[in-house]
Amino acid sequence: MTSQAAEETQFLAPAIRPEEDELERSLRPRTLDDFIGQDRVKEQLAITLEAARARNEALDHLLLIGPPGLGKTSLAYIAREELGVGLRTVAGPALERKGDVAAILTGLDERDVLFIDEIHRVSSAVEEILYPALEDFRLDIVVGQGPAARTLTLDLPPFTLIGATTRTGLLTTPLRDRFGMTFRLEHYDPPELAAIVARSARILGVDISNEAAAEIAGRARGTPRIANRILRRVRDVAEVRHEGKIDLAIAKSALQMLEVDEYGLDETDRKLLTAIIERFDGGPVGLNALASSTAEDRGTIEDLYEPYLIQIGFLARTARGRVATELAYRHIGIALPQPDSQQTRLL
Ligand SMILES: Nc1ncnc2c1ncn2[C@@H]1O[C@H](COP(=O)(O)OP(=O)(O)OP(=O)(O)O)[C@@H](O)[C@H]1O
Ligand SMILES: [Mg+2]
Repeated sequence: MTSQAAEETQFLAPAIRPEEDELERSLRPRTLDDFIGQDRVKEQLAITLEAARARNEALDHLLLIGPPGLGKTSLAYIAREELGVGLRTVAGPALERKGDVAAILTGLDERDVLFIDEIHRVSSAVEEILYPALEDFRLDIVVGQGPAARTLTLDLPPFTLIGATTRTGLLTTPLRDRFGMTFRLEHYDPPELAAIVARSARILGVDISNEAAAEIAGRARGTPRIANRILRRVRDVAEVRHEGKIDLAIAKSALQMLEVDEYGLDETDRKLLTAIIERFDGGPVGLNALASSTAEDRGTIEDLYEPYLIQIGFLARTARGRVATELAYRHIGIALPQPDSQQTRLL
C-alpha cells in the first residue's frame, strides 16, 4: 500500500497520528468549562477537585477509561490545571524497570499529578512498586540479593496518579482497586460534537456555519479527535476552492471528496456489519465467532467498534449475541430478508 493510500484508510481511525500532536495541543480544552459533554464525569470531577483544593490535599487517584480520542489526556491536564500543581507524564510501555518508576516517584512534589498513559501496559515489576506507593505513599526498594537482601522503605509525598486506558478488560484487578475514582468516557452525541467543532473552528480562526459544523459532527464517529481532523481537512478544501468560509454545501462536497461516509464508518465497521449480515444471516452472533470470522481482536470489537455501531443504531446487543439492524442492512446495501409469513401473504 502506498503511504497516501494508508493515510486515507486510516483517516477515520480514532488513534492519534504523528503529525497531529501540535494541532491537538492547540485545540485541547484547558479548563472543565472548556471541556464539552461527558456531563456526569465533569460534575463528579468538579466536586472532587473542589474538595481536594479546599482541604489542600492530593486528589484521589483517578482512572480514566475510554476509546481513543475521547478526552482522557485532556481531562488529566485539566485536573492538574485546576489543582494548580505540577504534572509528570509517562507512557505505560516506557515504564519497564522498577528503577524507572522509583526515580519518577521520588521526584514528585506534594500533590503533584503523575499521569500514566496506557497504564495497562506497565510491567508487572512496576505494578508491584505502584501498590504501596498508591496506598500508603511508600516506596519499598529491595537492595542486594539472596540472604543479604534488605528492603528499604522511603516515604513519598502524597501525590495523585491519573491512569488512562483505552480498554476496560486490560487492567489487573489489584491495580484497578487502587484507584479512588474511575471515570468511563462515552462516545459523544452529534450536538456535543457540533459544539466541539464550533469551538475548534473559533480557535483555528475558521468561519463555519452551524449546519456545516453539524454535518461534520454527524460523521465523526462520536469522537472529538476525528471531528477536529475532519474540520481541518474540510478547511483545507474550503481555503483552496472557496475562499475559506465553510457552509453546508462546501462541507458536504468536501466530505464527499474526502470519502467520509455519511455515518463516518470505516472499513472495519463495514467489514463487521457485512460479516454479520452475510455469514451469520444478520445474527445473533457471539463476539468470539464474529472476531474469528473477521480476524479482528475480540476486545477491539467490543471496546472500540461496537459502542459506536450501537450508538448509531446499526447494531443491537441481545442476550444471544449481536444483531444487525434494518438500518445496517440498508447502509451496507443488502436487502433485509423477509420473514416467511410475509412472503406467503405477498403471494
Ligand atoms: N470534551 C472535549 N471537548 C473539546 N475537545 C475535546 C474534548 N475531548 C477531546 N477533545 C479534543 O480531542 C483531542 C483528543 O483528545 P485526547 O487527547 O484528550 O484523547 P484521549 O482520550 O487521550 O486519546 P488517546 O486514547 O488516543 O490518548 C483533544 O486534543 C481535543 O482537541
Ligand atoms: Mg491520550
